[in-house]
Amino acid sequence: MLKKVLEQGREAADIALEELLPPASQYPTSIHQAMRHSVFAGGKRLRPILCMESGRMITLAAKSHTKSSAGSPPPGIEQVGAALEMLHTYSLIHDDLPALDNDDLRRGRPTSHKVFGEAIAILAGDALQTQAYEVLAQLICSAEARVAIIREIARATGTIDGMIGGQVVDLEAEHQKPDLATLEYIHGSKTAALITASVVSGGIFAGATTPDIAHLRTYGQSIGLAFQIVDDVLDVTQTSEQLGKTAGKDTAAEKATYPALFGIEESLRKADVLVEKACAELNQYGPAASTLKDLAHYLVERKK
Ligand code: IPE
Ligand code: IPE
Ligand code: MG
Ligand code: MG
Ligand code: MG
Repeated sequence: MLKKVLEQGREAADIALEELLPPASQYPTSIHQAMRHSVFAGGKRLRPILCMESGRMITLAAKSHTKSSAGSPPPGIEQVGAALEMLHTYSLIHDDLPALDNDDLRRGRPTSHKVFGEAIAILAGDALQTQAYEVLAQLICSAEARVAIIREIARATGTIDGMIGGQVVDLEAEHQKPDLATLEYIHGSKTAALITASVVSGGIFAGATTPDIAHLRTYGQSIGLAFQIVDDVLDVTQTSEQLGKTAGKDTAAEKATYPALFGIEESLRKADVLVEKACAELNQYGPAASTLKDLAHYLVERKK
């Protein structure tokens, strides 16, 4: 059942991305090739999937007579998902640059700067970011919802408790003895913020109420933190082939990670507790929440 959700979600995200990104043949071709190199390289598409499944749950919950977990996400929501994936891919291209994590392998391919050079890699990240906001500006929903989604996503990728802020502290915390408060800030900001925005923006697109948004936000923050804890654990336990990115990088760079502070077992236990907290937050939605709950468990059970 979840396998189908993951497959169909990835397909829907890929179709939207294919339509929304300029073709590789578009002049100037180097930048469009670079954008596509990183986007179409086998990412899991978790942020679009979370966005679409959040929209599906809110749509279902509005039909209070339904007792099933079936039903379609609102049409057009895959464009929100595509924009989220563009922003996520931009963050990965820049994360891999020599000035940041200096990685050669991403999504099973050589990183952007290895193939296209640093200048084009920097610009490809920038271009994916601007393309994302062009897509968001054209969303097929009410003007209020469109603006709320843009604000939500812009904040989540910004400097105050957002992705860039988290990346800054992640870099500044290298080679330091990690403390829990710093670690929670890094993970909450560099990763959980965009995951939370994915869930919340899907909800807004589907017409979520203020209480709905509060539940979705708490769910997103918990699974987002669990997701990055597991990313840290996989860096230690998996091989580069399994991950499609260089394993063992965090230890080599003396990054502030959960395994560095707590060890692998305790880190996984903390991730499990967060998943239970996330699921409890959605109990009031009944069967409509079953896919988001399954996704929460998948995020900690994944092997890549
Ligand atoms: C990797 O994210 C970067 C983090 C925020 C930990 P994903 O594990 O979702 O990477 P892809 O999109 O599947 O490549
Ligand atoms: C990256 O965290 C978070 C981003 C905002 C891209 P990591 O540096 O741990 O991600 P990976 O392990 O390289 O994918
Ligand atoms: Mg990093
Ligand atoms: Mg990295
Ligand atoms: Mg990592």
